[in-house]
Amino acid sequence: MSEITLTIDGKKVTATEDMTLLDAAKSVGIDIPTLCHHEKLEPFGSCRLCTVELDKGSWNQLVVACVYTVEEGLKVNTRSEKIDRLRKTILELYLAHAPDSQGLARLAEEYGADKDRFDKAASFCIHCGLCVRYCAEVKKKNAVGFIDRGTRKEISFIPEIASKECWNCKECFPLCPTEALQAAYVLVEALRFPRS
Ligand code: FES
Repeated sequence: MSEITLTIDGKKVTATEDMTLLDAAKSVGIDIPTLCHHEKLEPFGSCRLCTVELDKGSWNQLVVACVYTVEEGLKVNTRSEKIDRLRKTILELYLAHAPDSQGLARLAEEYGADKDRFDKAASFCIHCGLCVRYCAEVKKKNAVGFIDRGTRKEISFIPEIASKECWNCKECFPLCPTEALQAAYVLVEALRFPRS
């Protein structure tokens, strides 16, 4: 596989062509915040928190680091006023859904996000899809999925599968950036159905 050289935050980085900007940054100890990324899962690119800037000389392009693959000679900034402002707003939107999430609170502190900026719409789920994708891609069970669309979209366990598979698994719980509250709740609901 060919090697690519790029610059991240002023640091020369050597990467292989299949690496994403997130992988390349991580390989040299540069931390980019993520909410929907998991190394065992296909890139999803939904939370946008990992957005970084490509320095194109006279202009900067915003790209999602967990999806964008490395290119020869790229100059990447992982922090700037613009990026931090964007991350702050993203976190504020998520905090409206999950105001008590400790993971979000830690990030909010770093980016100065105000958890009361937007009206609360506490559903606990921020649609990162980690639980859904982990169950499908790693466990191959599809015991949890998204239902409905748009603002009504939420995760739900499939009672017939969940009642057989989830009790001894629960591997998705710690993946949830909102501390699995909704996952635990929905699972309990699912388990109310009799096992077949
Ligand atoms: Fe990249 Fe969520 S971690 S979009």
